[in-house]
Amino acid sequence: MIEKCRMIEFPQKGDDRGHLVIVEGNQDIPFEIKRVFYIYGSDKDVIRGKHANYNTEFVLINVAGTSKVKVDDGTEQKIFSLDRPHTGIFLPRMVWKDMYDFSEDSVLLVLASEHYDETEYIRSYPEYLEIMKGEDLC
Ligand code: TYD
Repeated sequence: MIEKCRMIEFPQKGDDRGHLVIVEGNQDIPFEIKRVFYIYGSDKDVIRGKHANYNTEFVLINVAGTSKVKVDDGTEQKIFSLDRPHTGIFLPRMVWKDMYDFSEDSVLLVLASEHYDETEYIRSYPEYLEIMKGEDLC
């Protein structure tokens, strides 16, 4: 399942006026965007996320600065660096994620496939591992 977490390169239309990056729902990313939020002002030693979602898929883009994302499917872990405004990471449902190592200028943009619903968040790692034992990983 961890292999479903993948970097996506977005089309760019930069010219001598500057850069323009395009992210279209259902085209550049594999879902319709229902929610956008962004995270900034997190110190370097802060770990955010620490949850999995039953239903929501995400794409994370550091539109400024850098951060790292550690993904975990209960069996394997993988670390991705977000350090270019024209790349993002796609995270499928049911992946445990930690965001950390934020640069001072980090602005982490998050695109989500669902509206916010706290009841679809799993915030306990032991509970997540228990649930993943019963998940169909195909
Ligand atoms: P939290 O899930 O802890 O953020 P992160 O995943 O970045 O660590 O969310 C922080 C607070 O914001 C929490 O009270 C829930 C709320 N929140 C919303 O109301 N809507 C949202 O879309 C998100 C992502 C969070």
